[in-house]
Amino acid sequence: MSLAQQLFKRKPVEAFVVSEHELKKTLTAKDLTILGVGAIIGAGIFVLTGIAAAKYAGPAIVLSFVLAGIACALAALCYSELAAMIPVSGSAYSYAYATMGELMAWIIGWDLILEYALASSTVAIGWAGYLTSFLENIGVYLPKTLTVAYLANPAEGFINLPATVIILLLTGLLVLGIRQSAIFNFFMVLIKLTVILVFIMAGFGHVNADNWTNFTPFGMSGVLTGAGVIFFAYIGFDAVSTAAQEAINPEQDVPTGIIGSLLICTVLYILVAGVLTGVVSYTELNVAAPIALAIDQMGLVGLSPFVKLGAIAGLTSVMLVLLMGQSRIFFSMAKDHLLPPLFAKVHPHYQTPHLSTLLVGGAVALLAGFMPIEKLGELVSIGTLFAFVLVCGGVIVLRNTHPELPRHFKCPAVPLVPGAGILVCLGLMAGLPVDTWIRLLVWLVIGFVIYFSYGARHSELRDSAEH
Ligand code: ALA
Repeated sequence: MSLAQQLFKRKPVEAFVVSEHELKKTLTAKDLTILGVGAIIGAGIFVLTGIAAAKYAGPAIVLSFVLAGIACALAALCYSELAAMIPVSGSAYSYAYATMGELMAWIIGWDLILEYALASSTVAIGWAGYLTSFLENIGVYLPKTLTVAYLANPAEGFINLPATVIILLLTGLLVLGIRQSAIFNFFMVLIKLTVILVFIMAGFGHVNADNWTNFTPFGMSGVLTGAGVIFFAYIGFDAVSTAAQEAINPEQDVPTGIIGSLLICTVLYILVAGVLTGVVSYTELNVAAPIALAIDQMGLVGLSPFVKLGAIAGLTSVMLVLLMGQSRIFFSMAKDHLLPPLFAKVHPHYQTPHLSTLLVGGAVALLAGFMPIEKLGELVSIGTLFAFVLVCGGVIVLRNTHPELPRHFKCPAVPLVPGAGILVCLGLMAGLPVDTWIRLLVWLVIGFVIYFSYGARHSELRDSAEH
């Protein structure tokens, strides 16, 4: 097979279903929904909402949440159709392999590193910030050399130790087992949901409608920019699809997990955003811990550390699920021989992809410890939106190339829904700064170099055509 043929050769959909049973299948629909909520509610709502309201959208940040929620809902319907058809760990990478060929699959697999690994590092740094602030509340002060990354501030910092340690701990947990990780995730989700619900209920009584009178101070363009920023808050529902291979009934339960978790979080986000901007004037919300600020303004100062604890739990589960997703994507890429075989090794006792998990965890821990990763946050959004575009496109392609295959979940109104998903996601991408686009392109070029020097030569599709 020539290289040109190989680049566009699709992996047959049937080939995904066989012989990939080594991972332990223990997850139920409830586990998958909780996994989704675990990955979604984090730095976006606990940190970014206030900044986006103050700088871009004002109280109309509520509308930004509705808009970004619609973009994600369109993508979620497409993810659900493909995840129920191709229930393997590779998620968007595998769907692209089945629909658009090997090169596109590689591009998306490489791109997903931005979503999963980079977002884990970003969230780890946010987590460390909340932990440091919580510790200060109880009188424990950590030196800057141990909380600030060298590359973020060479004069004062050395390593962001809390960020590194939490990633390593979660990596250890993921090696031990998917079931254990799901149980831990459950408790983290319980804590963060409790905090969010307490905030919403306590906040209702303290809303001052005057704060909403100037509802769209920055006009509709502010609402759009706000949607681009808080899109980060929704990232993670698609991580449910990376656990498809570990689900007991993936065909039914993965769509439930994806759509259910997104729905729950969308409703909560809109309520939180409404209460937040009703309690505190948007002009005061440009702070790192907006929910804690609102709690203080309600006169419930004692609850502030409790909110921080909720954020710490929330961010912990986000990192856990994203790290899991990244190791599963590498697992699938290595199964197809686009990455070295060690990424596809499954531990004989724990039945987890332990080497993939350890390598991902090690790299993310290093990034979180030493890099000023905040600057790269927008790369996470552009990378994710790019994946969404391809997944929506994949639904349209597969409906045409494989109309006969059983679809346990059908995205409604094809090609309208996926087409709208593509347009909305491209629109949000267009709103991101030019340098983010440049970084994305540089990242993809690095990916090409790796693909042509390793993946293209070792690809299983090439092997199977040659033998
Ligand atoms: N949605 C996740 C968060 O907000 C990535 O932290």
